[in-house]
Amino acid sequence: MASGPGLAPPLLRLLLLVASVAHLAAAQGNCTCPTNKMTVCGPDGPGGRCQCRALGSGVVVDCSTLTSKCLLLKARMSVPKAGRKLVKPSEHAIVDNDGLYDPECDHEGRFKARQCNQSSECWCVNSVGVRRTDKGDQSLRCDEVVRTHHILIDLRHRPTARAFNHSDLDAELRRLFRERYRLHPRYVAAVHYEEPTIQIELRQNASQKGPGDVDIADAAYYFERDVKGESLFAGRSGLDVRVRGEPLHVERTLIYYLDEKPPRFSMKRLTAGLIAVVVVVAVALVAGVVVLVITNRRKSGKYRKVELKELGEMRNEPSL
Ligand SMILES: *[C@@H]1O[C@H](CO)[C@@H](O)[C@H](O)[C@H]1NC(C)=O
Ligand SMILES: *[C@@H]1O[C@H](CO)[C@@H](O)[C@H](O)[C@H]1NC(C)=O
Ligand SMILES: *[C@@H]1O[C@H](CO)[C@@H](O)[C@H](O)[C@H]1NC(C)=O
Ligand SMILES: *[C@@H]1O[C@H](CO)[C@@H](O)[C@H](O)[C@H]1NC(C)=O
Repeated sequence: MASGPGLAPPLLRLLLLVASVAHLAAAQGNCTCPTNKMTVCGPDGPGGRCQCRALGSGVVVDCSTLTSKCLLLKARMSVPKAGRKLVKPSEHAIVDNDGLYDPECDHEGRFKARQCNQSSECWCVNSVGVRRTDKGDQSLRCDEVVRTHHILIDLRHRPTARAFNHSDLDAELRRLFRERYRLHPRYVAAVHYEEPTIQIELRQNASQKGPGDVDIADAAYYFERDVKGESLFAGRSGLDVRVRGEPLHVERTLIYYLDEKPPRFSMKRLTAGLIAVVVVVAVALVAGVVVLVITNRRKSGKYRKVELKELGEMRNEPSL
C-alpha cells in the first residue's frame, strides 16, 4: 500500500505546507479593500491577515462595510492634486474651495463638530461634514455635531423610449442601496418618480440608527462618487442600474441635506431670499453636485435657505 503509516505524516505535512503557502500567496495576492480603494493593505492584521488602512489618516478600516465620509475626504485630500482624477469641470464651473477641506475625524471616523482650515478659520459642520454656521476664528464653539437626518437625492435620467415603471424602478433603487451601499432598507424612506426626475429619500435619525448600521451620510457619499464615475469600490465599475433590462443613465444629480436643527447663519447671509433661495447646480453630464438645503423645520416656517456646497468641487449658479 502506498499510503503506509510511515509515509503519510510527512507527505501530509508537505501537502499542508504547500497548501498554506498557496493560501498565503492568494491571501496576499488579493489583499485589497473591496469597499474602499483609498487604502493601503497588507498582511499586517492578527495572524498575518489582510488589513487595510485609510490613506491620509492611517486608520484601520472595516472592509466589510462602507468607510466613513470623513475618512474618505481625508484620504482624498492626501492624494496629490495632480493625481486626483476629478471630473472635468464644465467651462462655467468654478471651484468651490469652501467644500473640499482636510477634515478632522473623531475616533469613529466621524466629522468633528468644529473644523478649521490652515488659516485658522473655523466653522461648525453637520454629520455629512457640510458647514452650517458662519466662519469664525479659533474661539468659535461647536457644541455638537448636528445630525443630517434626511437626505434627498434628486436625479434626472436620460431620455428613454418609455418612462420607467415606477414600482420596478423603486425596487431596483432600493436593491442598489441595500446591496451596493449596505444601507438597511428601513432608511430608504421613499422613491418618487415623475419622468425624468427620480427622488430618493434617505432618512435616519440618531435614535433609529443601530450599531453597525451604515450611516445615510456615507451611503449618499458613495452614491455621489459612483454617479460621478469616481467609484470608491475596488475593481468595480460605476453604477449599472437596469430596470427591466433598460439601463438607467443619470444626467444630473442634486443632493439635499436636511439637518435636525436649523443652521446658524447670520441674517446677512439669509437676506439672499427669505422664501427660497435655490442654488441651481448645473454641471455637465456625469457630475453629481452636492447642495445643502437648510430649512427651518417649523411647519409654517417661511424661510428656506439653500446653501450650495462642496464636495462636488465645482458649481455653477445660474439662478438665485
Ligand atoms: C480573494 O480572491 C478570492 C478568489 O479569487 C475571492 O473569492 C475573494 O473574495 C477575494 N477576497 C478579497 C478580499 O478580494
Ligand atoms: C481657508 O479659509 C480662507 C478664508 O476663507 C480661504 O481663503 C482659504 O483658501 C482657506 N484654505 C483652505 C485650505 O481651505
Ligand atoms: C409595473 O410593474 C409591476 C410589476 O413589477 C406591474 O404589476 C405593474 O402593473 C406595472 N405598472 C405599469 C404601469 O406598467
Ligand atoms: C426617529 O424616527 C422614527 C421613525 O421615523 C420616529 O418614530 C422617531 O420619533 C424619530 N425620533 C426622533 C427623536 O426624531
